[in-house]
Amino acid sequence: MKRTLGTCYYPEHWPREIWQEDARRMVEAGLTWVRIGEFAWSRLEPVAGTYDFDWLDDAIAVLGAAGLKVVLGTPTATPPRWMIDRHPDMLAVDADGRPRKFGSRRHYCFSHEGYKGECARIVTRLAERYGRNPHVAAWQTDNEYGCHDTTISYSDAARDAFRGWLRSRYPGQGNDGDIEALNAAWGNIFWSMEYGDFDQIDLPNLTVTEPNPSHLLDFRRFSSDQVVAFNRLQSEIIRAHSDAPIAHNYMGRITDFDHYDVGADLDIASWDSYPLGFLEDRVPATVAQQQAYARQGDPDFQAFHHELYRAVGRGRWWVMEQQPGPVNWAPYNPAPLPGMVRLWSWEAFAHGAEAVCYFRWRQAPMAQEQMHAGLLRSDSVDAAGIIEARQVAEELAGAPDVSPSQPDVALIFDYEAEWAWAIQPHGAGLSYFELVFDTYRALRRLGLSVEILPARPDLLDGYKLILAPGLMHMTEALKAALNDSGATVLIGPRSGARDATMRTPVPLPPAMPGLDATVIFVESLRPDLPIGLEGGGAIRSYRDVLETTAEILVRTETGEAALVAQGQILYAAGWLDPSAMMRVLRLACARAGVETMDLPGGVRCRDTGTERFWFNHDTETHEVAGLTLDPVSVTRARLA
Ligand code: GAL
Repeated sequence: MKRTLGTCYYPEHWPREIWQEDARRMVEAGLTWVRIGEFAWSRLEPVAGTYDFDWLDDAIAVLGAAGLKVVLGTPTATPPRWMIDRHPDMLAVDADGRPRKFGSRRHYCFSHEGYKGECARIVTRLAERYGRNPHVAAWQTDNEYGCHDTTISYSDAARDAFRGWLRSRYPGQGNDGDIEALNAAWGNIFWSMEYGDFDQIDLPNLTVTEPNPSHLLDFRRFSSDQVVAFNRLQSEIIRAHSDAPIAHNYMGRITDFDHYDVGADLDIASWDSYPLGFLEDRVPATVAQQQAYARQGDPDFQAFHHELYRAVGRGRWWVMEQQPGPVNWAPYNPAPLPGMVRLWSWEAFAHGAEAVCYFRWRQAPMAQEQMHAGLLRSDSVDAAGIIEARQVAEELAGAPDVSPSQPDVALIFDYEAEWAWAIQPHGAGLSYFELVFDTYRALRRLGLSVEILPARPDLLDGYKLILAPGLMHMTEALKAALNDSGATVLIGPRSGARDATMRTPVPLPPAMPGLDATVIFVESLRPDLPIGLEGGGAIRSYRDVLETTAEILVRTETGEAALVAQGQILYAAGWLDPSAMMRVLRLACARAGVETMDLPGGVRCRDTGTERFWFNHDTETHEVAGLTLDPVSVTRARLA
């Protein structure tokens, strides 16, 4: 695999006269890819039905002639103003019932058939015109599905589509669904919530107190499926006209739709990596961690997403947008330390990225993102980011080919589990994403390369240790496959706590074959009420109380089971604080025959088939494994 760099460019923002010089400088900097077009609808179709592709023909020709490969974006994240006049009800509606307005981006509801028709029309035009263009070497659908809280909409279009979705999920005679099957699955006898007809079912917002969790989970599944269908519409049109691979650029910690499902229709997963912005607005980190890494970003958050999107892309993934300097949108927007743009780029390659593209080429002198750095300043002078991009390009030229390899350790991340925890957190602030991320962070501090997997029974071969914390619903097939995987398997807390429709299963959870353990009740804990463990560390926030004959490996200070094992199955009966998590993972690794290290501070490593990459996110030097790791550095060591 040849690893490459690129950038995001907006020819429509700049005079035609400078495109050629821009393209020359991109090539001179060692860039291969240029992504364009994803917000340009108002210039491609200035008036409904009147198209202007001449400028885009030109831009592609200029960029291509300079030797660049184009990623062409479909412009459907930014419908122009005239579109709202044609479809006033296409705007998404928030949970309070208020339509979201025109004036920024992503102002559409995934369920609006009229808007979907408009998208099909513009994508068809683009695909027909550029599908065989030799310079268009990849496509991007839309831009960052779900960003700015845009997956879920409470519009009339969504309500009508939800009813149709429910009819097919609970099928009856002919085209109608079986309303009694839905009533039974949701437990609607509770509080007299029974329905006589699918048309009586509303969206689960604005209820007096909490809505039925089963109603909510089906609405979350429906909302996710609407994104999948919206994306599939575009990818099918593009495929009919082009052989170039199709990507979408996902975001960090956006979990409202199932990325694996969207990814199944695409060739490449890509994501937009803004480490400093993320640390300020979405990484589960303490204030001390935010201070320590304000200019480096969290040492694990990007890596977690690299692995997640590697799974979403079934091995093929890119960083479509890489932060090149300060961003504009987080609560605080510091500049990265010198060396971090290079470190982030190499980190992506260490996790198997095919390409890293910097957002954006030149800083915008207008509108919302004026304070967002580019590779160039607004006056076209080199900004700090391009110096490091050039260095990465030179280093890539001399780097050996990467061969991917499968790590010994796999960690399952499941979108439905994320929704189930959000629907019934049981305690303030409890989040599945954070539980999985805590586990990932601890594994990385133990020096492990970790692969992320969807909760699918057919992908579990060849690992020594599989971790599946917090999977609130586990199919029987998944349970059996985990049991048969030959790996040591760590599950809990809350594993199998609900069936597919959010009801408590009987026999009680986890009902894991091969493990005699039953959760007899659960409790959530105030932050100031942790439960200490014998030998150090604590359960915090949430715990399962177990009745078990399995071996108890770790006990609470009052003698109750905190970690149990039977054969190769381990169950963690609570949310472990960082020190308990490290202890439990060391025990699990020892049983699995996986060697661990204890990495200091912000030092992390990732193995490919041929090299071990060391990343030091700290401003101090560390000595690790006989190596001296300089502050803010990348160190590559050949593997024997
Ligand atoms: C991304 C988005 C880009 C740009 C960037 C700024 O979320 O895809 O268009 O807005 O953020 O950091």
